[in-house]
Amino acid sequence: MQSVTTSQDGEILVLSVNNPPVNALSWHVRQGISDGIEQGLKDDSVKAIVIRCEGQTFIAGADITEFGKPPQGPDFNAVLNTIETATKPVIAAIHGTALGGGLETTLVCHYRIAVPSAMLGVPEVKLGLLPGAGGTQRLPRLVGIEQAAVMTSLGEPISAQKALDTGLIDKLAGEDSLAADAVAFARECVAKGPRHTRDLPVKGDTSIIAKLEAENARKWKGFDAPYANLRCVAAAAENPNIEDGLKFERTEFLKLMSGSQSAAQRHMFFAERQAAKIDGLPKDTKLRDIKKVGVIGAGTMGGGITMNFLQKGIPVTIVEMVQENLDRGVGVIRKNYEASAAKGRYTSEQVEKMMGLLTPSLNLEDLADCDLVIEAVYESMDVKKEVFGKLDKICKQGAILASNTSYLDVNEIAASTSRPQDVLGMHFFSPANVMKLLEVVRGDKTADDVLATAMAIGKKIGKIAVVAGVCHGFIGNRMLSQRQIPANALLMEGASPEQIDNVFTDFGFPMGPFQMADLAGMDIGWHRDTSLEPTNVREAMCLAGRFGQKNGKGFYDYDEKRNRTPSPEALAIIEDFRSRSNMQKREISDQEIIERCLYPMVNEGYLILEEGKAQRASDIDVVWIYGYGWPVYRGGPMFWGDLEGAKKIVESLERQGVKVAESLKAKAA
Ligand code: 3HC
Repeated sequence: MQSVTTSQDGEILVLSVNNPPVNALSWHVRQGISDGIEQGLKDDSVKAIVIRCEGQTFIAGADITEFGKPPQGPDFNAVLNTIETATKPVIAAIHGTALGGGLETTLVCHYRIAVPSAMLGVPEVKLGLLPGAGGTQRLPRLVGIEQAAVMTSLGEPISAQKALDTGLIDKLAGEDSLAADAVAFARECVAKGPRHTRDLPVKGDTSIIAKLEAENARKWKGFDAPYANLRCVAAAAENPNIEDGLKFERTEFLKLMSGSQSAAQRHMFFAERQAAKIDGLPKDTKLRDIKKVGVIGAGTMGGGITMNFLQKGIPVTIVEMVQENLDRGVGVIRKNYEASAAKGRYTSEQVEKMMGLLTPSLNLEDLADCDLVIEAVYESMDVKKEVFGKLDKICKQGAILASNTSYLDVNEIAASTSRPQDVLGMHFFSPANVMKLLEVVRGDKTADDVLATAMAIGKKIGKIAVVAGVCHGFIGNRMLSQRQIPANALLMEGASPEQIDNVFTDFGFPMGPFQMADLAGMDIGWHRDTSLEPTNVREAMCLAGRFGQKNGKGFYDYDEKRNRTPSPEALAIIEDFRSRSNMQKREISDQEIIERCLYPMVNEGYLILEEGKAQRASDIDVVWIYGYGWPVYRGGPMFWGDLEGAKKIVESLERQGVKVAESLKAKAA
């Protein structure tokens, strides 16, 4: 099948792009468009040319799979030049999404028409790039500096109506009559002749750029691409001759394209989509119908999990053991929704509608008609087994029984029921209504359709779901513990919590291990027996009443606004514990902190893969980026490990005395 076909409607030549699934600009599409334009220019009976697309969308961008491969077919800029310099009007007819190179294609067309539901944007920044085929120079000439700066640096698409209002498109078509309306519009354009975006003056004021940089300073920390996008938009304002701006854009684009940040972000684009795929399971596996959900436990996790479903219009029965806890849990859910409503995210009617879908209960029997029950009770195997034993008797046949356990053996939990095929883990991350990651833990006996349904419902509630196998801590927490052990050891050897945390935040994590401990609360799992000698620093902190952010003192001291400062008392506790352990304090370099804390995580990732507990390395990257704040521009631990180099990592791990995964050794060889 040809990826670009031509047809003629009177004096209008129509080029139809057909390159499923998203009409990306693969080399054969570029070739087809170029040939089609040439054909239209040669044929005297053709007076104007329409470029439109088959399928669900207009061109959604360059073909990202071609990046980094030897070039094939005509260069994209040459194709754009062919369109732009055409002596007959070329009209873009847009539906679905015109993104990136797709939008850049429309910018060199002489006129643009779109259906009202179309979305138009330049999301390259999310791939660590910028619209490098003239997008940063032509967009400001149509929509002005302000709008172009926002669109390029944030990467969010705008609606067709907004595109019309800002001058990005010329006309709205009927929602169902784009083909005919575009041809009619093309006829109107014949008399007007070609009109060139490049000849328009740049409108607007560059002061928006400093404003955007200030507003997004936190979000963009460590990222190169947002700033490069803004530099290019500024260059459009500074260079009346577009050729100068295009040259500047090219240099900036090539810098990003050859850098590791874009490689990492492109890796994550595909990793995220790949994670949804379950190896060995046919795509058309019949899913179980999830119309009603039960959640056991109205604490922080249970409440957060519940909110995800209510937001998608799925009724939830939430069960607690004590009325007071139930009321508190329901109250927190309401308070969270009301806070979002105050920020304009919901109307009060929407809040009431969501709350109306919630049935609080003190009785497990009320879960009898639920299609999916998620247990989020205390992390104890005995408690979980008891709950699942009861669910087995109460729940209807075919219901999926999920545990939100973060560490425990899902097979053992499943064995406490007579239907282990219906049991799996659904491990949410706190706060569960916010964090994107969902680890779906596949037990030995979990049925295929149960796994596929849990993955699909995860997607429905806006999560990025990853399949994990049963092992202590699954993918994420298992690797986290490999980071925590050396972080604690480094403290004993002489590093301060602040030095270690700063290495992590400089790396791009939102917080380091000791900030995280303070946030989570150090007394979790502490036995509170004050007569016992502390066996680690954490216990020593608890004994001194330093529980973390919750009481304003942990590894750091906190003010009422939870701003942290280094704590002399905490440092003295560490010092004291160090000398009682007969440890000698020494200088520790930031590089050592990276190698000791992060290399063992990479190693653990390889072990997880060797044991078949993750389907693929990129799933591990997804877990760490969406669940633990690994910076996306570093591509996750496995991608980063490859950049560091297996040989360097293995040598360092051997120096540290860590047992190295065979597959990592093989890679290093
Ligand atoms: N190149 C190659 N493959 C692409 C692609 C692209 N630009 N965009 C999407 N795909 C693939 C996906 O990997 C996925 O493949 P799979 O089915 O094998 O997993 C398939 O198309 C469907 O994609 P989604 O699952 O994302 O489908 P949705 O319907 O949910 O979303 C979309 C469609 C909104 C178009 C979304 O895919 C998207 O945002 N795509 C990326 C758009 C983009 O970033 N464009 C800019 C590219 S860079 C560029 O143009 C550089 C230029 O300035 C020089």
